[in-house]
Amino acid sequence: MKVLGIETSCDETAAAVVSDDGTILSNLVLSQLEEHKAFGGVVPEIASRAHLDHLDRLIKGAMEEANLNFNELDGVAATCGPGLIGGVMIGMMAGKTIAATHNLPFLAINHLEAHALTPRLTNQVSFPYLTLLVSGGHTQLLVAEDVGVYRRWGTTIDDALGECFDKSAKLMGLPYPGGPNLEKMAQDCKNPNEAIKRFPLPTPLKGRKGCDFSFSGLKTAVRNTIEKLPEGDLKPDDIADLAYSFQITIGNILKDRTQNAISQFLETYPHSANKPTLIVCGGVAANKHVCNVLRGLTSERNMDFIAPPVNLCSDNGAMIAWAGIERLKQNMTDPLTIAARPRWPLDPDAEKRPGGGVKA
Ligand code: KG4
Ligand code: ZN
Repeated sequence: MKVLGIETSCDETAAAVVSDDGTILSNLVLSQLEEHKAFGGVVPEIASRAHLDHLDRLIKGAMEEANLNFNELDGVAATCGPGLIGGVMIGMMAGKTIAATHNLPFLAINHLEAHALTPRLTNQVSFPYLTLLVSGGHTQLLVAEDVGVYRRWGTTIDDALGECFDKSAKLMGLPYPGGPNLEKMAQDCKNPNEAIKRFPLPTPLKGRKGCDFSFSGLKTAVRNTIEKLPEGDLKPDDIADLAYSFQITIGNILKDRTQNAISQFLETYPHSANKPTLIVCGGVAANKHVCNVLRGLTSERNMDFIAPPVNLCSDNGAMIAWAGIERLKQNMTDPLTIAARPRWPLDPDAEKRPGGGVKA
């Protein structure tokens, strides 16, 4: 079974072909870094136009690299949400058109589900598993119970973790994309113990019950810290120290929230067939400190830990194709009348959270 996957929900234009044995036959990703650099963040209209300019070529390239014609595919999968709606519509319409023209099943993919299923592409993990999804738009603790069945135990009540990385990086004067640049800067910190003392940062919701997150206070604290420094440009050593302290703080928050979810997971699923597993997915899963903290936490609790390779953590077409394969195997195909969704919660029954920033 071979499926073409198309991803256009944010600032990556991506197309890939994956087969049901987990072989990635092609995986082309075009990041729009240059297009958005001058604005310090993703501009939705620019993103949509860039998807329009490049998607045809990427799909053609992905098919050529996989050495397949469209009629040799078993299905076409495209992200249909959540995300920037202009971009989502471009990928979705391309996918529907290929499916209609070649009489193939269409699979409308929830981008968050594609992140959450990626460890089944790379590591064949079985359900249920605990999932920490940390991306530019979402931060959630979920249980993946089956394809299409998720229990959301925690979400951010304000900013997403990737957004907090990006905005804090911008405050530190680091170039877009903020998250990876902040990680690099933190590596330049010369005296880690001193950095934490110099720049103590808050850990919102730490010690509270439950698995929700909050990051907007941390971002504000970064701003206040920078404003208190002497006038003039931030010195590289100051930025490295602040970036280091920021990353340690993020690790502490994730550890605190995830350990509550682990306790709940071990109580709720005491008899599952596998060793209990925590997976991390989404763009921020590329961060080494984040992964190290989570790995430490899981080994303390005798759990397995899976972090997919970096190129499958950030947005890509292979994860969309794989989610398509998982759904196609269960005959969960979609009609061509299906609409794009800017918001699309993975767990529609999740309890509503109070924060204005809660997206899904
Ligand atoms: O999953 P993703 O590629 O796109 C969304 O679905 O949002 O995640 C992008 C986010 C961005 O906020 C980016 O700064 C962050 O992931 N990110 C990182 C790192 N690499 C990407 N954050 C921290 N450290 C990194 N190494
Ligand atoms: Zn994503």
